[in-house]
Amino acid sequence: MAEPTQKEPGAGGYLGHGLAHEPGPHGVPASAGAPSAGPAPEERRGALKALVAIGGLACAGAIAVPAASFIAAPAAGSAGAAGGRERWVRVGRLADLPPGEPRRLKVIGEERDAFTVAKDQMLGAIWVIREGEKIRAMSATCPHLGCGIELNDDKKSFNCPCHASRFGLSGAPETGPSPRPMDPLATRVVDGWLEVDFRRYRDGVAELQEIAG
Ligand code: FES
Repeated sequence: MAEPTQKEPGAGGYLGHGLAHEPGPHGVPASAGAPSAGPAPEERRGALKALVAIGGLACAGAIAVPAASFIAAPAAGSAGAAGGRERWVRVGRLADLPPGEPRRLKVIGEERDAFTVAKDQMLGAIWVIREGEKIRAMSATCPHLGCGIELNDDKKSFNCPCHASRFGLSGAPETGPSPRPMDPLATRVVDGWLEVDFRRYRDGVAELQEIAG
């Protein structure tokens, strides 16, 4: 479909029209003189073909530019998500966090992909511990193979029921196959609300490798 801002030459349209009014060497339209004074029919056909070819290239360029933008936009977005784009999500009121006691909180927020945004989605869960003025937040997803991490009855350690990984309250691994500590998340307090910069990391590897989404 033609761009609304572009002129659309008709069959034999303005290209031919322009040629017909091309001024001659003395300001007289080339078509105004005797037939023998204008270019030969073969030359006219050649010129028309050349202009049609140029017009075709221009149209192809006009289509190609928005297509490139369409492809480039999600690529730039996903690069940001995989490479450290922040996603602050409000998870609860600071006043509801008792000091020293781990609390499991749901993370509900926007889920995005390259083309859609879905609001109020369950993104995951976190463990939060208020330690004086500091707040520690960690993903509740086990770094081994992604099961949910639970708080032990003594409330002094965490465990993963799938393969018995155990973690201290700091998130440090104590026993089991988890290749790294519980995944830490940045926090901030805004107007009395706790927010976390929610991220997901690859399972089963020793280093933090963020994954998009
Ligand atoms: S998934 Fe947690 S120990 Fe295996």
